[in-house]
Amino acid sequence: MSFTQSHLLGIEPLAPAEITAILDLAEHYVALNRREVKHAEALAGLTQINMFFESSTRTQASFEIAGQRLGADVMNMAMQASSIKKGETLIDTAMTLNAMHPDLLVVRHPQSGAVDLLAQKVNCAVLNAGDGRHEHPTQALLDALTIRRAKGRLHRLSIAICGDIAHSRVARSNIQLLGKMENRVRLVGPPTLMPARIGDFGVEVFEDMEEGLRDVDVVMMLRLQRERMDGGFVPSEREYYFRYGLDAEKLAVARDDAIVMHPGPMNRGVEIDGEIADDINRSVIREQVEMGVAVRMAAMDLLARNLRARTAEVMA
Ligand code: NCD
Repeated sequence: MSFTQSHLLGIEPLAPAEITAILDLAEHYVALNRREVKHAEALAGLTQINMFFESSTRTQASFEIAGQRLGADVMNMAMQASSIKKGETLIDTAMTLNAMHPDLLVVRHPQSGAVDLLAQKVNCAVLNAGDGRHEHPTQALLDALTIRRAKGRLHRLSIAICGDIAHSRVARSNIQLLGKMENRVRLVGPPTLMPARIGDFGVEVFEDMEEGLRDVDVVMMLRLQRERMDGGFVPSEREYYFRYGLDAEKLAVARDDAIVMHPGPMNRGVEIDGEIADDINRSVIREQVEMGVAVRMAAMDLLARNLRARTAEVMA
């Protein structure tokens, strides 16, 4: 099998064939999810624990649905009410859960690197549901599946990622994935929202939306991640919308068949015009949410297969 990982911590360690393996299996789950009866057995008998130390709507809901559809016993830890609030460290909490023999641990944490650290301490498969500004691999995979379905391929496309790149784990994972699959990635945004050492990313950088969006196949918008900013990175939301908010006029320089994406949550009138977001001819934002469930099913299925194979080896 081409997918050999024990965890899904980021896009960085994945080979192109592993990315393709997840997307191909996800296609199968897209079909299953459109049926009336949506149950499969890939995770039957396994226990999945979701630990979200940061708020989430789509990601948590879709991991939960994905696990349930594959037959896992799914438990959502209420992190607000957990012992973390009483001063227990992340590792102690993880070790406590580990003693309950989970098979899959889905973790979102505000600190970059926290999920990697946790994966070193537990015996089960760990999936990163977003760590600080580092990585959000299942988001990049669902974006990739959405692009592949809309464009018929996932290579030699020109993709603009726009807005608050500096604070975005979505951008980091997408830059990795789209680069590995041999696409041309452009980053568009004000210099204050560009990461340091941007030159190392193998991308083109634009400060102006009209230049950055010219002739691209895909426009990916990002939210201003104010919770990760200390101090003012943009003058005002009005000024930001004027220069960087995606509206019909700015989109007009992209290819006629360019698609518009957004990972959510969306701030209408800040980074994107509500009409563009709702335009069924351009926006694939709803498809992204649908693909999110399928991609998470595929990722958990593949990790569980590897988990079983390793357990069988140990038993032999
Ligand atoms: C993103 C995240 O949490 O990184 N949301 C998501 O998972 N769909 C993007 C964001 O918060 O803006």
